[in-house]
Order: sequence, then C-alpha cells, then structure tokens
Amino acid sequence: MNGPVWERSIQVLTAAQTHALAAALGAVVETGDLLVLTGELGAGKTTFTQGLGEGMGVRPGIISPTFVLVRIHPNQADGPRPGGPDLVHVDAYRLESAAEIDDIDLENTMDSAVTVVEWGRGRVEHLSESRLEVELHRSRGGAAGVPAGPTPGGHGSDHGHAVDPAATSSVLDFDTDDDDEPRTVVIRGFGLRWAEPPAALAAGTISGSEPRPATTPETPERNS
Ligand SMILES: Nc1ncnc2c1ncn2[C@@H]1O[C@H](COP(=O)(O)OP(=O)(O)OP(=O)(O)O)[C@@H](O)[C@H]1O
Ligand SMILES: [Mg+2]
Repeated sequence: MNGPVWERSIQVLTAAQTHALAAALGAVVETGDLLVLTGELGAGKTTFTQGLGEGMGVRPGIISPTFVLVRIHPNQADGPRPGGPDLVHVDAYRLESAAEIDDIDLENTMDSAVTVVEWGRGRVEHLSESRLEVELHRSRGGAAGVPAGPTPGGHGSDHGHAVDPAATSSVLDFDTDDDDEPRTVVIRGFGLRWAEPPAALAAGTISGSEPRPATTPETPERNS
C-alpha cells in the first residue's frame, strides 16, 4: 500500500470544534469518497461523522450504530448541498475482517454516496484506491496547561447549580460525557483523489480550532 500523500494535524478543544471541522470537510466531499475513522472508544468518531453529515446536508440522526452496522443518510433537497451525495455510515467495530466487510456490500453504495467507516482501519482500504484517514486522539502533553487524561476534581458540573460541596463527592457525575476535552485530529490523504489537501483543511479556515493555550474556564465557584 502506498503511504499518505499529505497529513494535517489539527487541535480541537471542544466537541463543537470537531463537529465544525468535519462540517467543513462535508462541504467538499464527493460521491465515491471513502473516509476511514480511527480512534479509541469515545474519541469522537461519531461526533465527527455528525458534523460531516451536517456539512453534506444529509438527513440528520447520525448515531453510534450499535446493532445496525450500516446506515444510509440521504441527501436533503433543502440542505446546503441539494443533489449532493448521500452518506453511508458504517461501524466496523464488530466486524472481524475485510471478508465480513465484503458481506455488507459497500461497493454497491459507494458509487452514489460518501462512505464513512468507524473502526475501518485494516478492514476497508481495499474498497477504494483513494481514501481519507481521520484519526482522533485524546491530546496528551499538548500546550502547557491543557489537562491531559482524567479531569482533575471529577465534578465537572459548571452549570451553576447550587450544590453543597460536601455532597458532591458521593454524587455520580452524569455530565462526564458532555465535558469538552482537547483532541488532536490527524487527517491523511491517500491516492489520486486526495493528491491535494482540501482547502477546507488549510490552517486558520476552521474557526476556533487553532491551538491556543488553554485558559482555565471561569468556573462559578465562589465561596461566600
Ligand atoms: N474535542 C472533542 N471532540 C469530540 N468529542 C468530544 C470532544 N470533547 C468531548 N467530546 C465528547 O466525547 C464523546 C465522543 O463520543 P463519540 O460517540 O463521538 O465517540 P466515538 O469515537 O464514536 O465512540 P465509539 O468508539 O464508541 O464509537 C461525546 O460525548 C463528545 O461530546
Ligand atoms: Mg462511534
């Protein structure tokens, strides 16, 4: 297999920025494109796919397909890209091999859609000569002050609820999933289709995604 033609590494600080980055890409992807998403559990692959779908103007409702392996999101006539490609969203987590991928017959839909495969690395590369690899990492050892790993304190509620501080240690933290964390999104182009990185990925075009020193959010923790 040939190596990547180019690579872009983009820092995002929030899920919304991951979404926006993917939406910018969603404006330029074309029928037949294959995107291979990699990253640990909860890294943001589905979040990325949701942003991509929004930029493509396909029917919303992109979720982690736990039991359904493949979902087709048709392009919407009243979206930003009427007549544009549909989105085929695959979760290959439970698929063991390229042979099992062949059983779900993606070749059939690739011609009329953009195909996005979560956990696709090592399983779907044979489907197309060209592909975009998107790797999501929890940022580690980034800019000074960016918390790496577990959030200190463990009580991520900054919604201003009046909570007795003495009680928080025994309260389950239901907010954890929604807490924004920095991510590094590495995008690599393979093959003729991606000979050039899309202009949408040029530095500075993704609003708010520039790396910047993390400032501690103004938490409304006032002891009075
Ligand atoms: N910078 C970020 N980018 C993306 N998601 C983030 C970020 N910070 C926090 N999150 C949160 O992390 C979670 C990512 O979940 P998501 O389902 O997108 O991950 P996934 O990689 O698809 O997981 P799985 O491996 O289970 O399919 C979401 O709850 C999202 O709000
Ligand atoms: Mg997912």
